[in-house]
Amino acid sequence: MIDAAASPGFLYRARAFDTPVDPFTSADGPGFRHDDDLGLLVSHDDGTIVARGPFATVAEAHPTAPVIDLRDGILLPGLVDTHVHFPQVRVIGALGMPLLEWLDRCALPEEQRLASPAYAATIAGEFVAGLVSAGTTTSLVFGSHFASAVDALFAEAERFGLRVTSGLVVSDRILPEPLLTTPERAYDESVELATRWHGSGRLRYAVTPRFSLSASDPILAACGAVMESVRDVCFTSHVNENNAEVATVAGQFPDRAHYVDTYDHHALLGPLSVLAHDVHPTDAELAVMAARGSSVAWCPTSNAALGSGLFPLRRHLDAGVRVALGSDVGAGTGFSIFKEGLQAYFLQHLMGAEGMPLGAGHLLHLSTSAGAAALGLADTVGDLSEGKQFDALLLRPPPGTALDIGLRHADSPESELGKIFALASDADVADVWVGGEQIASGGFVRPVNRLAPAARRTP
Ligand code: GUN
Ligand code: ZN
Repeated sequence: MIDAAASPGFLYRARAFDTPVDPFTSADGPGFRHDDDLGLLVSHDDGTIVARGPFATVAEAHPTAPVIDLRDGILLPGLVDTHVHFPQVRVIGALGMPLLEWLDRCALPEEQRLASPAYAATIAGEFVAGLVSAGTTTSLVFGSHFASAVDALFAEAERFGLRVTSGLVVSDRILPEPLLTTPERAYDESVELATRWHGSGRLRYAVTPRFSLSASDPILAACGAVMESVRDVCFTSHVNENNAEVATVAGQFPDRAHYVDTYDHHALLGPLSVLAHDVHPTDAELAVMAARGSSVAWCPTSNAALGSGLFPLRRHLDAGVRVALGSDVGAGTGFSIFKEGLQAYFLQHLMGAEGMPLGAGHLLHLSTSAGAAALGLADTVGDLSEGKQFDALLLRPPPGTALDIGLRHADSPESELGKIFALASDADVADVWVGGEQIASGGFVRPVNRLAPAARRTP
């Protein structure tokens, strides 16, 4: 039995990858950091990484720290999903429809069912388990149109200690009547939810109009009022996803310069704002997003499944707009950010001269540190540096699988990381930690366990 009180923290010993330096802006090196025998001392008090270095050095400096040997797998920073819909777990996988038809036929009927608190609690359980199983430790979650369902999501996220930013989805036109609200009610319910959850542990609130197509100027103004009322609140919505959507919004807002301006007009865009998709931006819109310091959630499998279009990554980066990955469950095809990374790579490769060649380091960055930066959490999570929280996942593929074989025979760290993005799935995510607390073990998710984890056998 480990006497946790007698030691400064657990000393994790691992093979690890992370991306403390943005590979899009630094041409030096392989685009990622790789350690073959890393030591990470994680504080018992608050889950911070308090020492980092070669294992032998950290072990020598902290001889009383119990060692948790993870060298039977590969340690990565916890994945960050910057766009994922809580009420859509059960509609993943509907293929063959463009956005507006998919919303009508798949997403919106299911979202109405979350009016029932009992149903919403069940979905919250399935949703949070989906995140943890995929190794996603931080997420910006598109909530529900029902305040009671948003409460259920926050409560379930809290039970697992996940880093979740979410909020009440608001709309006042076009959607089915049960999903509509008024500007007054939207304001009141949003502030009430934010008062309850914003800044509570690892939870934060996000002001969330569904998209301008279903939001009038008065309800967007109410969103602006919530942002003024709640300190350091986040903002999220959709933009420029589909050509029919873009044309409709242009007709609805004749006085606005463009789709992005429908949000910017109400002061909704800032460094804590994340707009999902942006497959069809104009240069003027990119300039506004860059000036506000806002980010875009790029959702590769969703864009492909709905046929939304080819994401112009190069144009975003050239304009200075920050980009990170989102699964966009349930238009996206699952919770795995590894799969989003692979699809991101495929797409940019296929776009030829207009695409951006992506290496394994870019994919890890887009899956971790870029997401942390988009959510304003770059000082807290995103890589495994000293001073960051120990949010991490251990990949340990089942013996004999293609990933297991590939990793054992990889001839360089670059090829190891490439194989991870080509082959890793939820089945390979064995252990997951948030803030030093282990919430998945051997592939089984479990609520936060504040007791000492069992020491692992040294292989
Ligand atoms: N635009 C408005 N609502 C949605 C949604 O639920 N999913 C996607 N992909 N786009 C949207
Ligand atoms: Zn979405």
